[in-house]
Amino acid sequence: MPSPQDIQVDKQTDAYLHITSNETVNGTQFHYFPIVPGVPVIADMSSDILSRPLNISKFAVIYAGAQKNLGPAGVTIVILHEEMLQQQRASLPAILDYHTYVKHNSLYNTPPVYIIYLVNLVLKWIKRNGGLDFIEKRNVEKARLIYETIDQSYGFYQGMARPASRSLMNITFKMKNNELEKRFIQEANEQRMLGLEGYRSFGHIRASVYNALPYEACKALTEFMKEFQRHYC
Ligand SMILES: Cc1ncc(COP(=O)(O)O)c(C=O)c1O
Repeated sequence: MPSPQDIQVDKQTDAYLHITSNETVNGTQFHYFPIVPGVPVIADMSSDILSRPLNISKFAVIYAGAQKNLGPAGVTIVILHEEMLQQQRASLPAILDYHTYVKHNSLYNTPPVYIIYLVNLVLKWIKRNGGLDFIEKRNVEKARLIYETIDQSYGFYQGMARPASRSLMNITFKMKNNELEKRFIQEANEQRMLGLEGYRSFGHIRASVYNALPYEACKALTEFMKEFQRHYC
């Protein structure tokens, strides 16, 4: 992830700054949010929304597909500062124009009501469990378990992201060769630990530990990782 001084934005020429708060392929995440006076910040938070408390006033637009921490795919949440509506180009097609959604109370086309209902259940679940402070604490503990296992493996597992940029949602690591990684995934699958393959263009191993994944699942994975290392190192 870029450090604050790497982010060069010029308010004379740049209409906005867009960031992706969590990047699922490499497993990196912003642990601070850039603030550039006079330049609106727009964030794709599809993969880490509601994983931690958030000060939305720092953003002009936040958008997030539901499919990671909110519920099933099919719904996108947009949080939009009113000023952004005024700055919008006048000639946009209706479907791409946020005015359309504001004017129609987010009901311009047929809403996927079942998915919205499920998102509401997830929001209630978060509230019931202590809100975002609790969720963040749990996510930190979950990720720490796995990162510690990587860091204490004497190089058997190698984390892909720089420690300061490590994602709490997608933990990426590699091993000394492809065969060993394939074996890891196969043996994990046999123990019903599924979906550990890295992104298709990136490879290696990726443990996605979104809000819905319990602490016990991360614990089970770390126990499996330690056992696998004992066997194959
Ligand atoms: C940050 C981020 N943006 C965008 C997407 C893509 O979303 P969609 O497949 O709904 O276009 C993803 C993956 O789901 C993502 O993690």
